[in-house]
Amino acid sequence: MELPLPDAERLITVQHTLLQWYARCARDLPWRRTRDPYAILLSEIMLQQTQVDRVHPKFQEFLDAFPTFSALAAAPLAEVIRRWAPLGYNRRAVRLHQIARIVMQELGGRLPEQARALRELEGLGSYTANAVACFAFGQRGAVVDSNVRRVLGRVFADVIGLDPPPGRVLDRFAQAVLPIDNAYDWNQAIMDLGATVCIARAPACSRCPLAFVCVGRPLMARAPKRLPRVAEGVSTYTTGAPFEHSRRYYRGRIVNRLRALASGASLSFEELGQGLRDDFGPEDHAWLANLVDALQHDGLAAVEAAADGPRVRLP
Ligand code: ADE
Repeated sequence: MELPLPDAERLITVQHTLLQWYARCARDLPWRRTRDPYAILLSEIMLQQTQVDRVHPKFQEFLDAFPTFSALAAAPLAEVIRRWAPLGYNRRAVRLHQIARIVMQELGGRLPEQARALRELEGLGSYTANAVACFAFGQRGAVVDSNVRRVLGRVFADVIGLDPPPGRVLDRFAQAVLPIDNAYDWNQAIMDLGATVCIARAPACSRCPLAFVCVGRPLMARAPKRLPRVAEGVSTYTTGAPFEHSRRYYRGRIVNRLRALASGASLSFEELGQGLRDDFGPEDHAWLANLVDALQHDGLAAVEAAADGPRVRLP
């Protein structure tokens, strides 16, 4: 399929205007003051499922505890899972720890610089790989999350449609509209615009620097009820199904209980279950065993045999 593109003059106007806005209005975020690949990887993994405001303090605290790949790789996984609280989506902590060990044991202590090579690391999706390649290594690649997708879809609604689906066509479009020599600022700028001005449900067009070139603006004003619902901010694994919702809830509760134990301490299934639900009874054992099994599979729990039955702890 032919790649749709805006005309060159309009594209240059959009690029200049957005970069000027970013120079004046960029959010002062700690991961923008560093080019350390480890710190940037950490920030992007935290930002995958958590809002900027919640990541902000935790990012610095985690870095203080584990300042380098080497420090993180040397730490026991249980300690890393403890330090991840209260961010949730705890599998991210396990994956980050695994990546640190691979970096130290197999990659000579350094992350690869190219997005393609970064993607080979278990747990790094294409978004995070592109973000690290650009923000840590200055690679000229587009970083496309749901905010960026929404902004591009609105500004260039005539070219790619108000609500472009994620995928290769959009990725190639995002790559084609990247300025030649300022990919870092451009990528951060679109994210900022999408997070603070061009938000999903109530875009603040009156203070948007791109309003005068935005094709989506009049379309949205004419059909407000049909505003695209491209998600705000962070993406999640959420399926929306109530079953998945409650499963995730109880997974989080179990990890929280295990985290609160002293180092090396454990709980019987009975103790664990009673801390989760007041009405926990024998008929709930299979339900709990299934949850613990999945957590064990994800590296978030360990089950050990004891004389009076199995006990659960952090790995
Ligand atoms: N969300 C994901 N990555 C981000 C970044 N680098 N800055 C702000 N928000 C983000």
